[in-house]
Amino acid sequence: MKRATDKLVALQFLAVVLPIAVVLLVQLAADARRAASLDHSRPLRILADEARTNYKTFMNGAADAVDTNSLGPQSVHALRTAAARLADLRDRGEAPIVGEAADAVRALAGVIPPKGATLNTLLPLRERIMRGDALTRAVGDEFERRDEFVVKDAIASAVIQRRAVAGALIITAILTVLFVLATRRRLKARIEADIAKERQRRAELETISIRFGIATRAARAGVYELNSDGVNMWWSDTMHELYAQSPATFRPTMASWLELIHPDDRVAAQAAITGAIRDNTHLRSQYRVLRPDGSVCYIASLAAVATDSVELGPRLVGIDLDITDRVEADERERKLQHQLRDASRQAGMAEIATNVLHNVGNVLNSVNISASLVEDRVKKPRAAGLSKVVGLLQQHEADLGSFVSVDERGKHLPFYLGQLSEHLLLDQKIALQELESLRKNIDHIKEIVSMQQAYSKLVGVPERLAVSSLVDDALRMNIGAFNRHGVSVKCDFEEVPEIVVEKHKVLQILVNLLRNAKYACEAAERSNKHVDLRIAKQPDGVKISVRDNGIGIQPEHMTRIFSHGFTTKKDGHGFGLHSGALAAREMGGALRVESAGPGYGATFTLELPLRSPETIDA
Ligand SMILES: Nc1ncnc2c1ncn2[C@@H]1O[C@H](COP(=O)(O)OP(=O)(O)OP(=O)(O)O)[C@@H](O)[C@H]1O
Ligand SMILES: [Mg+2]
Repeated sequence: MKRATDKLVALQFLAVVLPIAVVLLVQLAADARRAASLDHSRPLRILADEARTNYKTFMNGAADAVDTNSLGPQSVHALRTAAARLADLRDRGEAPIVGEAADAVRALAGVIPPKGATLNTLLPLRERIMRGDALTRAVGDEFERRDEFVVKDAIASAVIQRRAVAGALIITAILTVLFVLATRRRLKARIEADIAKERQRRAELETISIRFGIATRAARAGVYELNSDGVNMWWSDTMHELYAQSPATFRPTMASWLELIHPDDRVAAQAAITGAIRDNTHLRSQYRVLRPDGSVCYIASLAAVATDSVELGPRLVGIDLDITDRVEADERERKLQHQLRDASRQAGMAEIATNVLHNVGNVLNSVNISASLVEDRVKKPRAAGLSKVVGLLQQHEADLGSFVSVDERGKHLPFYLGQLSEHLLLDQKIALQELESLRKNIDHIKEIVSMQQAYSKLVGVPERLAVSSLVDDALRMNIGAFNRHGVSVKCDFEEVPEIVVEKHKVLQILVNLLRNAKYACEAAERSNKHVDLRIAKQPDGVKISVRDNGIGIQPEHMTRIFSHGFTTKKDGHGFGLHSGALAAREMGGALRVESAGPGYGATFTLELPLRSPETIDA
């Protein structure tokens, strides 16, 4: 726009100046030409005038000679001067005009002596003198005419120049008017275009502003700018809405804004702002706003320092987002997570309880059997027999010797007592065995409970143990049941290194494997129920396998057998193998199964490393 206007102004200037300049140049050239003509004609005219004047002086002298009879030397001098002037004129290139006169006057001067002459000398020269007079007059007239012509030409030229200047001025005026009109038209068109553009820009701005308003309102986002003075602020309408402050009454300043922030968040919010301005970094802060109606609104503020204007200085331009819904949703989610955690903890506790019950249940079976055995032994009426013997002996206290040697009952007494003592010893032995088994089983129950307590705290107590003693213990806990159901057991224990494990974790796996094996044999209803127990070395650990010749496992059950809850037993829980496999994995080992199918028995193998990973630091 500015460049186009400059161009127009330049053109206008040229339109005004160019005609005048041309006229002035032409005028200057004409003036120069006129000055040259005048310079040239004036000296010639002077010479011609001098020649004529001197010749006239000579003529007057000659006329006087009629009276005085002599021509004085002054007159001759005048004649010679006239001849000299004419010669000058010829020398200056005026020969065509002065040639004849110069010759005639020079010749005349040549015949008249310088000191003068008498009338007689002059009379024969009368014709030539008169001719000289006519010629010099003609020369004078000619030069006068030429001079007058030059002057007239100068005057005429001046008139033409005046007209040219006037013409130039008129042309300039016309051009100026034309240019002004053209410029006005162009400027008008341009201004109209600019106005249209401005109008469009405004419309676009308005559209953007409307969109911005809708978007920020929808997003519940307020826009603000904190001036470089760090005091005054500009707020968008949505900002006022966010803080529930009327634009008519609330003047946003740093101080008035801080007043609206929750007292607990105020210091941090202010520090975030001053820090962002000082370090010229992005601002990201979150705080609560207290609205006049008492409600609390959570705000996330994002801002950056704008340094685009030198005039305005660095300002903090930012956006405040209402994140109350998000914060409340987060809070709800946090509560849900909490509840979920509680629920899963309860589920975990339930699982632990199931585990404990299962393992304790396994052991309680043996406890029950041992207890029944002891009870049976104790219930047997051997003590009653003994008291009868004591009664008989008391009756025959006086004749004890004859009673033992003569009386039929007395004679059987020593044998009977021998038998009784044998039975009592056997009962005692069995009872002691069962009590020992009971003690071990109760110990195992105690351990199971304390292990589950430790497990719930994710802490185990690893021990260095001989694998064979572990397997023996497990077997001992089940041996009663094996005997009762007529299941024979064969042990094949290879020499293996000791392992570092949590004893009762391994025991609970083995007890379940033995119970399952016994059950499988029992269910097979065959005469030779048999279980093989093996311990073997592995490259970096040991393996314990329990092989039975029981019912075997269907192929489709092979993958499900370790799943929680999988059982084919009427009163089974489907927990033993599942928890066993988990425990084996926890110890860095594995629990595997092999079976050729139903009727072909099954082999369960527990693989254990020499030191389980959870015990590495122990
Ligand atoms: N030696 C085996 N021979 C054949 N099937 C077996 C054998 N051991 C386990 N199973 C099968 O695997 C199932 C799951 O065994 P698991 O020990 O996990 O649970 P359960 O013995 O049924 O019940 P519980 O949780 O009381 O031990 C058994 O019900 C049985 O069908
Ligand atoms: Mg089981």
